[in-house]
Amino acid sequence: MTENVLHNKKIVLGVTGSIAAYKSADLVRRLREKGVDVRVVMTKAACEFITPLTLQTLSGHPVAIELLDADEEAAMGHIKLARWADWILIAPATADTIARLAGGRADDLLTALCSASESPLAIAPAMNNKMWQNEATQNNIRQLRSQSAQILGPASGDQACGEQGEGRLLEPNDIVQALERLVVPAQLQGKHVVITAGPTYEPIDPVRFIGNRSSGKMGFAVAVAAAEAGADVTLISGPVNLPTPTGVHRIDVETAQQMHDKVMEYALHCDLFIACAAVADFRPQPLEQKIKKMGKQELQLTLTPTLDIVSAVASGDQPPFVVGFAAETNSVETYAKDKLKRKGLDMVAANQVGDGVGFAVDENELQVFWESGSQSLAMAPKSQLARDLMTLIIERYNAKDTT
Ligand code: C5P
Repeated sequence: MTENVLHNKKIVLGVTGSIAAYKSADLVRRLREKGVDVRVVMTKAACEFITPLTLQTLSGHPVAIELLDADEEAAMGHIKLARWADWILIAPATADTIARLAGGRADDLLTALCSASESPLAIAPAMNNKMWQNEATQNNIRQLRSQSAQILGPASGDQACGEQGEGRLLEPNDIVQALERLVVPAQLQGKHVVITAGPTYEPIDPVRFIGNRSSGKMGFAVAVAAAEAGADVTLISGPVNLPTPTGVHRIDVETAQQMHDKVMEYALHCDLFIACAAVADFRPQPLEQKIKKMGKQELQLTLTPTLDIVSAVASGDQPPFVVGFAAETNSVETYAKDKLKRKGLDMVAANQVGDGVGFAVDENELQVFWESGSQSLAMAPKSQLARDLMTLIIERYNAKDTT
């Protein structure tokens, strides 16, 4: 990795009551060496294993422990800390903390902070190997993964309890390296990124429409990743049931035509345009009144093609860096490469859809193509896949800028 992606990142380090808590002292040092601003939050049990003074000295900031402490809340209370953090890293994370997080508890400072934060969460478990393999722990880990938490490790080997097996905290250097892979480089400061997301609804009459199964999750995750990279993000979204990501300017539209018009307003002068929306290719001519059923008589709808939004942006006078998506049921590579050329894109991110894959699910994988290369992004929660994609987009964008 050439660039130090962690430089100037703001990380809350949660330390919980495991014997491995002594390693968090070294972890704080490794993070600070990378230029990270670290604020430590300890559980009371953690204080039995390592003193707050140690972590305060190494981090250069007071350590927060109590949820109900007027002084601490007055300094940087849990809500402020929750907003401040670019990432929350819990290392070591005990089986109990993992269970309380999975259950949505907020009964100490660390869990309250996690539940109040929209920042990404990375968890490095540390526990006896039987506790790690315990079905309840594994269920909790699955639950946290499905909520987009990143699980770092655990490692295998000698355990403090004298046993051998999986459950050891990753070494501090390995935690830092894992975090580096998760973080999007902050290279889009001052850049305007426009993203389309979700489906479009094409009205047939006042109550019916033609739509599709896109949930908008990928586009919204890409918007989060672009904002994490420091960009000024405009998200033009079709009808979806998703909250607006923090710091993102969202514009809601319904039809392909409305999406086209908003994109033309915002994207022609932007730096990057990322077309994640599943735009309808055809639309009916909407009727003003509800169509009535007429016995068994067939109904014919005439559909006309919609405008291709991403092609319109790519064929502009001074187009931004344009990324399209290709959701295919078969021959993914062939169709994706064809789309790259035909639509004049800089990059195309392709995935297989159908049979429960791709749309409306939390995990996905992508094959990304550009004129001179390609890269596969492994199956991951859409939040992480979007970060991996954004890292690649930034790399290709910078490469194009310098040629
Ligand atoms: O042609 P196809 O719909 O498969 O292409 C998918 C890509 O083109 C996606 O990036 C999608 O957002 C974009 N697209 C568009 N306007 C359309 C149709 C597709 O921007 N009318």
